[in-house]
Amino acid sequence: MYQKGKVRKMVSVAIMGHGVVGSGVAEILLTHKQKLFSHLGEEIYIKKILDLREFPDSPIADRFTKDFEEIINDLEIRVVVEVMGGIHPAYEFVKRCLKAGKSVVTSNKELVAAHGAEFFAIAKEENTNFMFEASVGGGIPIIRPMNQCLVANNVREVAGILNGTTNFILTRMIEDGMPFDDALKLAQDLGFAERNPAADIEGHDACRKICILASLAYGRHIYPQSVHTEGITGIALEDVKFAEAFGYVIKLIGRVKKLDDGRIDILTAPMLVPFNSQLSNITNEFNGIMVRGDCTGDVVFYGKGAGKLPTASAVVADVVDCCKHLKARRFLFWADGDGKNIIDWRDSVSAMYVRASGENAAQKAEAVFGDINVTEGDGVTAMLTTEMTYRVFEEKCKALKAQGVEILSAIRIGDI
Ligand code: HSE
Repeated sequence: MYQKGKVRKMVSVAIMGHGVVGSGVAEILLTHKQKLFSHLGEEIYIKKILDLREFPDSPIADRFTKDFEEIINDLEIRVVVEVMGGIHPAYEFVKRCLKAGKSVVTSNKELVAAHGAEFFAIAKEENTNFMFEASVGGGIPIIRPMNQCLVANNVREVAGILNGTTNFILTRMIEDGMPFDDALKLAQDLGFAERNPAADIEGHDACRKICILASLAYGRHIYPQSVHTEGITGIALEDVKFAEAFGYVIKLIGRVKKLDDGRIDILTAPMLVPFNSQLSNITNEFNGIMVRGDCTGDVVFYGKGAGKLPTASAVVADVVDCCKHLKARRFLFWADGDGKNIIDWRDSVSAMYVRASGENAAQKAEAVFGDINVTEGDGVTAMLTTEMTYRVFEEKCKALKAQGVEILSAIRIGDI
């Protein structure tokens, strides 16, 4: 039991970055010091914080540095937290830390999605650990459950709402009719959005996260550039309303499936999610991730996918794990991948929601698509098609356009 005045064993750590997540990590390590000591039996001591800015009001202002060399050269620092975001210089710093035998914890999904396999290989060589629980789902435990608790399963599919900012924007549009730009501004003020929010609204952040989960599930690195990605900038309030009339809600989904022939079907795109899906009620900055195991069936993870303390909580859990395993490797690994096992996204099969205009659009669409579910309003026709590959869908849209029907919007229907 901790007693004041007694010498306590401790592990020194450094935090690179003192932004939203980094300041949260420092805060939790300070405010939850005793709780963490009780669990670990050692104190986690923040020896250095790397940031180019000044933080004179911090209770540990004297431990800030602008010089990475002070961290890499400090043999007492065993665990380094990377929460700077972006690729450079995070990539170089992480690589040097791992090569120096320090364990690294990151929340940086861009970095893990781009360089995970390389970092694992270095960590293996140096007998150290590279952990990234906070990189997907913020405060939701998902990496460790997938890597440990669900390890007996062949993962058939993972589908999730993986970006808090876009889910927040869509929720404000659906529930309040709030314009897109106002909702984005609010998400930025609340600290959910990326420094460059294009990464959120154009789907890249969600894509990086589904790549991380897919790599973990299938053991080979899947790089974001191999994954077809669509954002939410083209979603109109009319689509939100028609979707509701059909019994669906629009969500930005990252989804990966293993097909029967072993190939991977992966994409990030807005989808119509049926009201009865577990993912349909996930609102605001919350994330939800469904993992379909061959033994477990569907397992759903839910919680705050963005924000200071939820994300920092996952980072700190990894720090504790690294501190517990300073001399042993945690088995968390995937090999490099060449993307050859991923199907062309146009061969992916889905039913489609279409909003269209033009004379007799419904009849013409029925002739082209066959069986459709139609609703009409304000001179516009909305319909749900049966399943087809995207390639076939594009051909049918071309045929409709040739008959004077304008396709105003097309969104996949998620069978999730
Ligand atoms: N911008 C990200 C999001 C932060 O909105 O989900 C958490 O990764």
